[in-house]
Amino acid sequence: MDAPVALVTGAARGIGAAIAAELAAGGMDVAVLDVLEPTESVRAVEAAGRKGLGIVGDVTRAEDREKLLERIDRTFGRLDVLVNNAGVAPKVRADILEATEESYDRVMGINLKGPYFLTQHVANWMIRRRESCDDWMCIVNIGSMSSYTASPSRGEYCLSKAGVSMATQLWATRLADFGIGVYEIRPGIIATDMTSTVKDKYDKLIAEGLTPIRRWGQPADVAGAVAVCARGELKFSTGEIINVDGGFHVQRL
Ligand SMILES: NC(=O)c1ccc[n+]([C@@H]2O[C@H](COP(=O)([O-])OP(=O)(O)OC[C@H]3O[C@@H](n4cnc5c(N)ncnc54)[C@H](O)[C@@H]3O)[C@@H](O)[C@H]2O)c1
Repeated sequence: MDAPVALVTGAARGIGAAIAAELAAGGMDVAVLDVLEPTESVRAVEAAGRKGLGIVGDVTRAEDREKLLERIDRTFGRLDVLVNNAGVAPKVRADILEATEESYDRVMGINLKGPYFLTQHVANWMIRRRESCDDWMCIVNIGSMSSYTASPSRGEYCLSKAGVSMATQLWATRLADFGIGVYEIRPGIIATDMTSTVKDKYDKLIAEGLTPIRRWGQPADVAGAVAVCARGELKFSTGEIINVDGGFHVQRL
């Protein structure tokens, strides 16, 4: 029997690398896409006894998305789970009174437009496959607490993640008839390269009680939530948001 196959974008490091390793540990073969060489992540998949496929490519480039899916088809012949994880913060945190169109286009392209069209392509493949199998298939978007938390020094990031939330609702609605689940994992403050530049600021805020659970989130915290969706444990839920944020989203008084 072939194992189910997952594609994780942005999986050379950070949250994506943890997701790839967790899905492999759960018995899936895993393709990883990144603009960086994802050698270590492929090794981790293989160390779990599964087949790994590393692909260097850019989620914003239509030809890279096309080639990526061709390679997955040639290597595995199937795709069961797409995890849209690749994402970037603005290179410079700039006040929205001054931020540039260039940064807006970069962040929106990587965080929202690229994943939207990758999802379109994968969804069509999954729909065709659905005609001949009843395997569990799902799409998991890595959103952010920034989809509802206004940070005026990185407006383009907040807008991109608000867009990811609507993309989750759209795809959940459209794909429900095909038995394809669509979920949003909404991380809070997670210790990765992305947040290393603001470590001191968040160390202080967390110690002061910003999050009810007073610690940094780890990539493995996010990966665990993705694995629950990928295993098909939430089959009567779609469009669901899973906060992995130490309770940040709870309104308190
Ligand atoms: N770290 C956090 O606190 C946090 C919080 C909320 C949401 N997130 C989201 O989690 C996801 C992963 O973030 P992370 O913290 O692991 O960041 P990271 O910077 O450590 O990793 C992101 C990965 O995406 C890759 N990538 C960037 N642009 C790409 C592109 N165009 N095509 C393919 N790959 C590309 C990078 O090379 C990198 O390997 C992102 O979507 C991010 O917005 C992170």
